[in-house]
Amino acid sequence: MATTQLIRGTLYHYPHSTSQYQSDLQSFKDGAMLIKDGKIADLGDFSALKATYDDVEVVDYSGRVIIPGLIDTHLHFPQTEIIASYGEQLLTWLDNFTFPAERQFEDADFANTMADAFLTECLKNGTTTGLVYSSVHKVATEALFEAASQRNMLTVAGKVCMDRHCPDWLQDTPESAQHDSADLIDRYHGKGRNYYALTPRFAPTSSSAQMAALGELAQQYQDVFIQTHLSENHDEIAWVKTLYPECEDYLAVYEKYHMVRPRAVYGHCIHLSDSEWQRMADSGAIAAFCPTSNLFLGSGLFEMSKAEKFGVPVTLATDVGGGTSFNLLRTLGEAYKICQLRNYSLSALQGFYMLTQGAADSLGLSDQIGNLNPGSDADFVVLNPRFDALTQLRIDADSTCEDTLFALTMLGDDRATVATYVAGQPLYQQQEL
Ligand code: GUN
Ligand code: ZN
Repeated sequence: MATTQLIRGTLYHYPHSTSQYQSDLQSFKDGAMLIKDGKIADLGDFSALKATYDDVEVVDYSGRVIIPGLIDTHLHFPQTEIIASYGEQLLTWLDNFTFPAERQFEDADFANTMADAFLTECLKNGTTTGLVYSSVHKVATEALFEAASQRNMLTVAGKVCMDRHCPDWLQDTPESAQHDSADLIDRYHGKGRNYYALTPRFAPTSSSAQMAALGELAQQYQDVFIQTHLSENHDEIAWVKTLYPECEDYLAVYEKYHMVRPRAVYGHCIHLSDSEWQRMADSGAIAAFCPTSNLFLGSGLFEMSKAEKFGVPVTLATDVGGGTSFNLLRTLGEAYKICQLRNYSLSALQGFYMLTQGAADSLGLSDQIGNLNPGSDADFVVLNPRFDALTQLRIDADSTCEDTLFALTMLGDDRATVATYVAGQPLYQQQEL
């Protein structure tokens, strides 16, 4: 495979951090990117780049839309198999579907097979980076990092830690959680394109001793990510109150153990008090909005206007397998509908920003991913917005970026993904029918 290529198509991206989603969108209708050694080396109009690099091979995606690889900031790889399991809210769904499914990941061969299936599904849907929960098992976390490394995908992941209120056969201990997490940090964090996330499942399944052990690691390793769940479901919140009576609210549990800070990603954040929103904002932590999961598990309607009022960065996430789709554009469509019910206008451009540059920027990764800037890694998705008879009626060559993306959030799925590139390599290519 050539290491230098010109990729031609209609390019859309946000080159820098912004809240001006209309004016700061950079687009090239007939554009091109020079890809060299896995990175984007140049970007602009095709005619100009072709004149400059006239001997470079052209990969022609004319009529297709090229965007940065999408970033899914909260999903569970061991839940791939139980996606769309009927009928429960959070706590009984965990007992009846999630914990039995996660048990299988104690087996390394099984975990390897599922890591492959999981990453294949991500790539088919245009997701090039995930913040991924593994199971409680170290082998499963190793399987995921190894599978991501083989594909050279920028991946943030962590071993779930839980030492109570889940089946015995799925529990670690404060000591093993600390030891195994530290070992995984040493072996994977910052190695290749891997990053580690300390991953207490959520406050109910970690004892104070375990939270303290992980809090020590959080202090010791200031640049690792942290991921957990916060304020998703009313029964969960009431339970946390009884388990941590000394804490004034749910967020205070994580604060007590040094986990509320930049690069800490809190899944859900549906029922936060104003004080919690304010403290999230002050800390630099991030809220991951998981719309399909929140609807599927009946958890509630995320309040974008609160996040905006208090200045908390919000990213989007599928939360597979509580979430019902691997497709982040479709997930954005569901976010739009939740925002409609909350009287917040979530534009397609704001959503596109949240899935790309916005997420990368809040995670401190925008020098590598989330945009098509020269110098960034060549992670990008080629979309066919007119992938079926209906979208051919709805979208035409003159449709704006905003309208095209909006229609895709409502009508699209993996049929719109023509190809997904990771570090310059086409890891997914749709088969011609
Ligand atoms: N809270 C604790 N664990 C989970 C999980 O696996 N999924 C969701 N949606 N919420 C959780
Ligand atoms: Zn989750």
